[in-house]
Amino acid sequence: MNTDSKSSNTVWHHATVTRQRRAELNKHHSTLLWFTGLSGAGKSTLAHALEERLYQMNYSTFVLDGDNVRHGLCKDLGFSNEDRIENIRRISEVARLFVEAGVIVLTAFISPFRADRDKARDLVGKDFIEVYCDCPITVCEERDVKGLYRRARQGEIKEFTGISSPYEAPLNPELSINTVANSIDECVDEILKYLLERGVYKL
Ligand SMILES: Nc1ncnc2c1ncn2[C@@H]1O[C@H](COP(=O)(O)OP(=O)(O)OP(=O)(O)O)[C@@H](O)[C@H]1O
Ligand SMILES: [Mg+2]
Repeated sequence: MNTDSKSSNTVWHHATVTRQRRAELNKHHSTLLWFTGLSGAGKSTLAHALEERLYQMNYSTFVLDGDNVRHGLCKDLGFSNEDRIENIRRISEVARLFVEAGVIVLTAFISPFRADRDKARDLVGKDFIEVYCDCPITVCEERDVKGLYRRARQGEIKEFTGISSPYEAPLNPELSINTVANSIDECVDEILKYLLERGVYKL
């Protein structure tokens, strides 16, 4: 499996409860929706609103959200480029396990670097759905949900994405959602329509 692994004496044990069998039990396929975008673009809002809708349809879901993960799994990591890369790597591995477990996973991380998102895509394979929350920085800054833009402008936060650290927008995302022109419900409907077309679930 992983050629970078430090533990070489491991043997992969094949499960009899396969992904396909989990999908039959759950009555839907598992997949990963990878939300990306600037702070305040709407990743958490859409991931949780979408999860709510999927839950109401009896689907198995889980949201991995930036701040929550940084309190535990990635609490030893900061916001340097190196740490951001490791943050995304760990999240990708966890998301892959959830996908194997039959869950519709929604991740809500800025994930500013294209190369890291592409690594996540390579790891997860065909189940990776990149959802770009498209919102100009001017609007994100006006929203300033967490007051972070104001603090970043005042120089209190170093390496703040969009201000003092780059954000590389996806070149070819599966979905590009305009969170300015559309309401939250409209955005969620658009994503649900896409999942239906992809065959993740059936009506
Ligand atoms: N169509 C929309 N989709 C998503 N959010 C919207 C939309 N319209 C308005 N908003 C508002 O924009 C804000 C988005 O904030 P949210 O916390 O979801 O951003 P985020 O991308 O998760 O940021 P961060 O990276 O800092 O966690 C919320 O206050 C939300 O109500
Ligand atoms: Mg968020």
